[in-house]
Amino acid sequence: MIEKNFSNAHPKVLCVIGYPIEHSMSPIMQNAAISELNLNYVYLAFNILPINLNLAVKGFKVFNITGINVAHPFKQKILKYLDDIDPIAQKIGAVNTIKNDDGYLTGKNTDAEGGIQALLDAGYTISGKNILLLGAGGAARALTYVLAKEAKKIIVVNRTKKKAINLANEIKIFFDIKIEGKEYHNSVLKDESEKADILINTTPIGMYPNISKSPIPIEFLHKDLLVYDIVYNPLETKLLKDATQKGCKSLGGLDMLVNQGALAFEWWTNKKPNSSVMKKKIIEFLGNK
Ligand SMILES: NC(=O)c1ccc[n+]([C@@H]2O[C@H](COP(=O)([O-])OP(=O)(O)OC[C@H]3O[C@@H](n4cnc5c(N)ncnc54)[C@H](OP(=O)(O)O)[C@@H]3O)[C@@H](O)[C@H]2O)c1
Repeated sequence: MIEKNFSNAHPKVLCVIGYPIEHSMSPIMQNAAISELNLNYVYLAFNILPINLNLAVKGFKVFNITGINVAHPFKQKILKYLDDIDPIAQKIGAVNTIKNDDGYLTGKNTDAEGGIQALLDAGYTISGKNILLLGAGGAARALTYVLAKEAKKIIVVNRTKKKAINLANEIKIFFDIKIEGKEYHNSVLKDESEKADILINTTPIGMYPNISKSPIPIEFLHKDLLVYDIVYNPLETKLLKDATQKGCKSLGGLDMLVNQGALAFEWWTNKKPNSSVMKKKIIEFLGNK
């Protein structure tokens, strides 16, 4: 006789929200981690129209969704709906992970730790380095906050110059570091890349489907530059290909993605996921696209 386990028919729900969300690899890696640990959870992706964010938050409570990842364009907008925000996420001003305890929503930022850990695990150091960071959105905020603890100097370059300046000014409140916000212009990119040890791309330029684009002309790359592109789809972006061609060391966004997801998973489930399995599933998926 088949024994019926009714609790297994009602898994706890985890999800990611974003707009658009089709490109997200989170369902693939999180469901791989769930199945490897044989947990009674399921991870879904929801495309949420920006005007419906408030309804989505009510939905988390009504449907008792245990954990939520927050993707573009909600990482900053979500803050006002949360009951509690971890102090680091508060300083960063962006949340990418929420835990729902019986309707009480707490927000964290795992992009910061996940992104920096990827650099360190690859054997690179930040201490004393000059960093050129492209973009001033949610991911840029998270990375700048952790980089500022150790870097010598950070130049934030952004299409909307004001956002780069604001981010630099906010970081100065917390850290005694040389940091400036500048406009995203070829003359700035040329000057600043020459002086930089590490170039970090946090813009979506080069992301699928616009894979022939790079956020910086190849001629501005030099062999002493470490190029870190946090875009993970495709696994090897045009920027990373250009970096290899110019003899630069480079790192893609996959490890950051897995790290931030693994940190979220552990917070929600109290179980450490197998990061290698998560990474393997994404490589299989993106490799087969
Ligand atoms: N590997 C990972 O784990 C990971 C984690 C988070 C994010 N990401 C990736 O990082 C990228 C950014 O994510 P986000 O959450 O930070 O997004 P976001 O908050 O929307 O910020 C995007 C930034 O890129 C700039 N930008 C967008 N399109 C541009 C263009 N065509 N030319 C110049 N600048 C442009 C924006 O400038 P404006 O201020 O002028 O709009 C903004 O500063 C995405 O590709 C995302 O997939 C990867």
